[in-house]
Amino acid sequence: YLQEEEALSQECKELICSLPKEKGWIFSHIYKYEGFWYSARHLQGVIACQKYFLAQESDIFLVTTPKSGTTWLKAIMFTLVNRKRYPVKENHPLLNNNPHNLVPFLELEYMDNQQPDLSLSSSPRLFATHFPYFLMPNSVHDSACKIVYLCRNPKDNLVSLWHFAKKLKLQATAIHSLEEAFDMFCSGLSPCGPFWDHVLDYWNESKKNNRILFLKYEDMKEEPAVHLRRLAEFLGYPFSADEEETGMVGEILKLCSFDNLSNLDINKTDKKAYGMENKSFFRRGEVGDWKNHLSTEMTRKIDKITEQKFSEVGLVL
Ligand code: A3P
Repeated sequence: YLQEEEALSQECKELICSLPKEKGWIFSHIYKYEGFWYSARHLQGVIACQKYFLAQESDIFLVTTPKSGTTWLKAIMFTLVNRKRYPVKENHPLLNNNPHNLVPFLELEYMDNQQPDLSLSSSPRLFATHFPYFLMPNSVHDSACKIVYLCRNPKDNLVSLWHFAKKLKLQATAIHSLEEAFDMFCSGLSPCGPFWDHVLDYWNESKKNNRILFLKYEDMKEEPAVHLRRLAEFLGYPFSADEEETGMVGEILKLCSFDNLSNLDINKTDKKAYGMENKSFFRRGEVGDWKNHLSTEMTRKIDKITEQKFSEVGLVL
């Protein structure tokens, strides 16, 4: 924890002194900035990125809350937009790189550097981020960049987050029981949360802004080919008749599938992305694992929150 705070800029140190502070999941504390909760280092990246990032018209953003399937969509989107440059075959970059090393988290690039090198192996540039829409850097709002939002059922999201935090547990003081994690999540105290506010921000924006494609993890799992085609059209990389005939859709899905990625050597070793072991990004990759973890009472409580937050806008998760 000391290291975490020592590495902060003076500006960020001063800022966090003025912000609401709560116990964190992975790091000791999280801070509430403009309605959302971040670790101190993440917040430093958020602030610098808002200030210095300059979007290019062709940039593509993948937005998620942590543990809603970012790794999977990073792999899919990277493969999709770069398929001419990197055909889906033996030496594809995903076979030797964790998806997080191919598609960076935008704000994390700014954590220690106001001018990070953003020349990427993807063309167009492809970034992931956990920014709520309204906090995105101005240059993103002012450009024609495309934004893909991926969300996941809150119960599965919570269970996935809990396992991830438990595995990492970088700080002795971080959360230690599922009950505690549950209460914090339901109170909105999750990394980049409140979960429901994050999802609502993009859901509402996607209704009036055709630059945003709103996707659900569960839909992707149920009908991956349908949603991959939708994604390809949206990003301006539709599948040609030739590609359809030769089974490109299936090939991309197979390359990026949980079974394939999680069994690659690169994702089984102790190698790290963002200080976290590559293997920590792969657990079960299923829909409905919450049934193995949440009690009836917990289920009732979290479902009620979801109903209260989403029913008015017609969103079902
Ligand atoms: P579980 O913990 O439920 O297994 P993120 O990538 O946003 O950190 O989310 C991680 C979740 O996505 C984990 O969920 C992980 O197992 C799952 N995941 C990772 N790769 C996947 C893939 N290729 N297909 C489906 N789910 C995947």
